[in-house]
Amino acid sequence: MPDIFPHLDYKPKLPQRMDHGIGIVGTGGIVNYAHLPAYKKAGFKVVGITDRNREQAERTAKEHGIGKVYASLDELLRQPEIEIVDIAVYPAEQVAIVEQAAAAGKHLLCQKPLSDEYPKAVRSVELAERAKVKIAVNQQMRWDAGIRCTRLLMDDGWLGTPTYAAIQVHCKTDWSLWPWIYQGKHVEIMFHSIHYIDSLRYLLGDPAYVFTSGSRAPGETTQAETKTLTTWEYTSGLQVLIDVCHTTWQDDAYAIFRFEGTEGVIKGTIGLMYNYPTGRPDTLEFMSKRNPGYWFAARLDSMWIPDAFAGPMASLMRSIENGSEPETSGRDNLRTLQVVFAQYRSIAEKRAVRPEEISA
Ligand SMILES: NC(=O)c1ccc[n+]([C@@H]2O[C@H](COP(=O)([O-])OP(=O)(O)OC[C@H]3O[C@@H](n4cnc5c(N)ncnc54)[C@H](O)[C@@H]3O)[C@@H](O)[C@H]2O)c1
Repeated sequence: MPDIFPHLDYKPKLPQRMDHGIGIVGTGGIVNYAHLPAYKKAGFKVVGITDRNREQAERTAKEHGIGKVYASLDELLRQPEIEIVDIAVYPAEQVAIVEQAAAAGKHLLCQKPLSDEYPKAVRSVELAERAKVKIAVNQQMRWDAGIRCTRLLMDDGWLGTPTYAAIQVHCKTDWSLWPWIYQGKHVEIMFHSIHYIDSLRYLLGDPAYVFTSGSRAPGETTQAETKTLTTWEYTSGLQVLIDVCHTTWQDDAYAIFRFEGTEGVIKGTIGLMYNYPTGRPDTLEFMSKRNPGYWFAARLDSMWIPDAFAGPMASLMRSIENGSEPETSGRDNLRTLQVVFAQYRSIAEKRAVRPEEISA
């Protein structure tokens, strides 16, 4: 019998106070099927919501039992009870809301991507810093069980020095959930792989070079990329593969991760991608040199949607309480966006790109 059963305490760490008032701007799909169920389960206090489509906000309030629907962003920002503004509108529109909310002294949880253009993302971060409010980005995959457990195992030394990492997702994505994304100029990396990019940065740090091939399947009507093959190179010799295809019609879709190191190997599945947005729990197994031949299997019972969505909000609340930075702070997110835009530059220029080449 193996003598190792690591304790994997992977659930989000809650704040001390559960009464931080939240006001939500934009009440579309993701707020209804992820933010609000997650906040209810965690016990967070949503004071009120607003949407430029008033009927949509009314429907959302009714469905989730929210007390107030505000007629405008201005009205929401005037509420002293609201300490945190949770923004879930389209990326191009986010900076204008950040500007107003920061000026009103509200802390901010922005949706990913922080912006559709790197300079606008930098401006959002600077606006928050100047107003001395906290700004976090909803890169909640860092709290998905498989990723968080991988981090805990790495922190405890089970992996040793990382040598290879891969995330491979071949699925059939229903873009009709997001027609505005499918019609835009960026699809796969900007709206989907950005989660893998952020999670891999969280686990492994920043790559020195990225190289991406972007393409789409025959007959697709988008002008953007729906399948990408990416490699990252680190100065340490670590190599990363991100292999994502959203047009898998075959009946054996898969979403897997694998981390190899000098001391062990961790592998598993990303449950959400087997049936978005319902999903299923992740799986995770690891094998250590300390116990060769024995594969430890973690029992994971939480889901990316909604459970992981409590993570960025809890981290923001904790940062407000103790004066630290949120785990997915705006400043940290600029580095995720540098990788995102470096991958687009790589596709366009057919070369390896350093993330630092992306600047405001
Ligand atoms: N974190 C994740 O995993 C995740 C998943 C899906 C979507 N998202 C992000 O969430 C955001 C919203 O996506 P969605 O799928 O909910 O879109 P959606 O179209 O379903 O909803 C967007 C809502 O925002 C409202 N809105 C737009 N601009 C507004 C403004 N200026 N003021 C007030 N309301 C406004 C719209 O009326 C609509 O109700 C996008 O940025 C998307 O990238 C994140």
